[in-house]
Amino acid sequence: MLLPEIYWPNYVQETMLLGGRPVFYPLGPGYQPDLNALPKLVTPRTRAVLINSPSNPTGAVFPESTLRALFELARERELWILSDEAYEDFVFRGSHVSPGSFERDLPEEKRRVFTLFTFSKSYAMTGLRLGCVVAPSLYTATLLRKCQEPLVASAGMPIQWGAIPALGAAERAGVERMKAAYQGRRDLALSILQPAGMADYVPEGAFYIMADVSATGMTGDEFAVALLREERVAVAPGSGFAIQPRFHADGTPVAEPSPTGAPEYPTNPKASHRVRIAFCVSDEELGEGLRRMVRFAERASERHTVRRPAKA
Ligand SMILES: Cc1ncc(COP(=O)(O)O)c(C=O)c1O
Repeated sequence: MLLPEIYWPNYVQETMLLGGRPVFYPLGPGYQPDLNALPKLVTPRTRAVLINSPSNPTGAVFPESTLRALFELARERELWILSDEAYEDFVFRGSHVSPGSFERDLPEEKRRVFTLFTFSKSYAMTGLRLGCVVAPSLYTATLLRKCQEPLVASAGMPIQWGAIPALGAAERAGVERMKAAYQGRRDLALSILQPAGMADYVPEGAFYIMADVSATGMTGDEFAVALLREERVAVAPGSGFAIQPRFHADGTPVAEPSPTGAPEYPTNPKASHRVRIAFCVSDEELGEGLRRMVRFAERASERHTVRRPAKA
């Protein structure tokens, strides 16, 4: 399974639970996929490529040209595409592009995109556990139905009834207001993080940014714990979105020792000096939290600079 190298962690867990092996495609500036690198990662054993645009945790939105290139690669190399569009309603520039739309006019047997949706984000129904998948064909939809029964049985019936109004036209105005609120908070976050040198790209969707804490000399893990202790502000360490399991020749994962004995896996260094900030709190709380974070980062950076030996 080809996965973006900075990703929502469930993808790796699900791939490994299914006995698959995650292979990570590199992300360049602004967390955009490196399209030259991708074809070289495909082997005869590659089954699928996962796309998550807009992305959790980066907020990156892949442009249509990138999505089309991924779609063409999948067609040429006969891969499935899993397109996780959890944040489809939160795209701040232009409109959301769904790779499934590229194969609208193809016959079912030529289609290859599974599109994944959730009610959690657009309708703020996270706790209610409702989502759906659009399968490329009746055949694959039938296979999914057969898997659904033993895996999740079904979504709760009252929740399904409750979700029907969410799909009505009347709800669109609410979703649009939510998008405007997230965009406003993204701008607010940038206005605080950019002058502090902690934002090196502009997230164009979802409600996250991966802030850069490298000037403090701390890892994202250290930063998150110390920030919580000293300023009572919670952020998510970047390492949690960058686990990169390695495998023995027989396919079993190489685990690192951990205090509990449960397997731990190494993480991608690209995320080790990052923390993820989520904009799903009020403007006041977000502003206050970020100001405290910058204040903390400035103190930590000063300590780091003082400690560092002067260059000859
Ligand atoms: C990228 C992405 N996909 C899917 C989900 C799953 O949402 P849920 O399980 O609430 O439907 C999330 C939730 O955080 C997400 O960030």
